[in-house]
Amino acid sequence: MTMKTENTVWHEHNVSKAERAKQKYQQPCLLWYTGLSGSGKSTVANAVDAMLYARDCHSYILDGDNVRHGLNGDLGFSDEDRVENIRRISQVAKLFVDSGLIVTTAFISPFQSDRDMARALLEGGEFLEVFIDTPIEICEQRDPKGLYKKARAGEIKDFTGIDSGYDIPQSPEIHVETANKSIEQCALQIVNHLEQKGYIPSK
Ligand code: ADX
Repeated sequence: MTMKTENTVWHEHNVSKAERAKQKYQQPCLLWYTGLSGSGKSTVANAVDAMLYARDCHSYILDGDNVRHGLNGDLGFSDEDRVENIRRISQVAKLFVDSGLIVTTAFISPFQSDRDMARALLEGGEFLEVFIDTPIEICEQRDPKGLYKKARAGEIKDFTGIDSGYDIPQSPEIHVETANKSIEQCALQIVNHLEQKGYIPSK
């Protein structure tokens, strides 16, 4: 991305990321959820968020559908727009991590190259790719927003998994296979990972 503003200088904050993290008794990180539409990204992310809150951790969710109403309201679902969607989100998420939070992004983020770009923005250990792995047949059966039905009927173009691609994560930090698990079990898998790796204090 070329900068159009030549005369801006990065301003260092007086309070460091490490200090903010220490104040919150946690290791800030970015949980980058990826998965098909209807796979359960937002649902699991919200369950994780509630568990973190109950443990006095400080977290925040940036959710695909919500962000597309505001910041990214000008973007559609062409490959080009999806790349820009993820580029903006990863920049915002980086700032949120800098603020000391455990940040969640819940976007399809179908392209591995974009997820790798987001990873590259963060420091080592800060980026955790969370693959919400739900077979498309199940997503289509659930079809919570009726979008698969519309996509099959040709009413929505470029729908992920139907006529737009999805790169399966090759080495996600957390691989959640949702098919035979409850939402709570999926969420616990993620919270346990955060605890075991020292991002949050043990109970
Ligand atoms: S991403 O591919 O650019 O990462 P994002 O997560 O922001 O997608 O938005 C996906 C959500 O937008 C889906 O959960 C669904 O509700 C809605 N949506 C509308 N049109 C499409 C489409 N063509 N493909 C995928 N999702 C779509």
